[in-house]
Amino acid sequence: MMAVEQLCNTETDNDVSARHIKQITATKFSRAVAGYAEHANVQKRSADDLFAKVKSHATGICLDLGAGPGVNTARLQVLFGTTIAFDLSFDMLKHSQARTAICADMDALPLLDKSVDCIFSNFAVQWSQNLPHLLKELYRVLKPGGVIYLSCVVDGSLAEIKTAFNKVDSQSHVNKFHTLVQLQQYISAAKLDISSLNQTCYQDSYESPMAALRSLKAIGATNQLSQQKRKGLMTKHRLQQVCAAFPLVNERAIVSYQVAIMELKKI
Ligand SMILES: C[S@@+](CC[C@H](N)C(=O)[O-])C[C@H]1O[C@@H](n2cnc3c(N)ncnc32)[C@H](O)[C@@H]1O
Repeated sequence: MMAVEQLCNTETDNDVSARHIKQITATKFSRAVAGYAEHANVQKRSADDLFAKVKSHATGICLDLGAGPGVNTARLQVLFGTTIAFDLSFDMLKHSQARTAICADMDALPLLDKSVDCIFSNFAVQWSQNLPHLLKELYRVLKPGGVIYLSCVVDGSLAEIKTAFNKVDSQSHVNKFHTLVQLQQYISAAKLDISSLNQTCYQDSYESPMAALRSLKAIGATNQLSQQKRKGLMTKHRLQQVCAAFPLVNERAIVSYQVAIMELKKI
């Protein structure tokens, strides 16, 4: 029952300022540090697909945007002269053992124009409150000829969770993600050149629906659950109903993430 209470017992993001949302996001990720590795299977696969694109002759300064606990930072430090781990969560950065780190908001990028050679960002930019602006900012801080290796969770993700909740009520319970078409429009508006872009479905498999729901904490998609709790709607009974309605495959609870895997360039 501990897990049920923890899932319900978080603060609402509704009707709060953007700053407050950032604080909540940072707190959620800071709390997730210890268990992050356990929940980050999908993130690891997505990172591997991005690393497959990184040129072996990579040089200069690389920014690991939304670096989290630094799994990718460690790999990037081997490839680049300097790698900067950048994250909103101080606890994540402390865990990262990065040689150079910036604790800041990606929506207010404190970096000079044309200051980095490469940007690597895995499973993070969907957290931006203004993705079109962020992509323009990435263009600004990138040197001409610079490359961005980017993965972004897009619309269609967490479909199983939506299905489970839809059987209980008609409200949306998971974060809203941009569509692939929107993402392409934002990239084009930011004047970034698309070297490659493909959408991949990564799936995690859990022994129970409750374990699957708990995994949402790893990407912070508990916002809507939190709102329900604040309104007193997400009771243990309702959560049990959601678990009962969760679609199982071979008695396993699957969680799917639709992810855009991209290589972008500033020409
Ligand atoms: C799902 S984790 C991904 C971590 C890592 N990139 C990986 O591949 O495992 C998302 C990270 O983005 C960070 N993040 C969320 N919103 C952010 C923001 N506005 N600015 C900077 N980092 C942010 C979180 O703190 C978290 O560490």
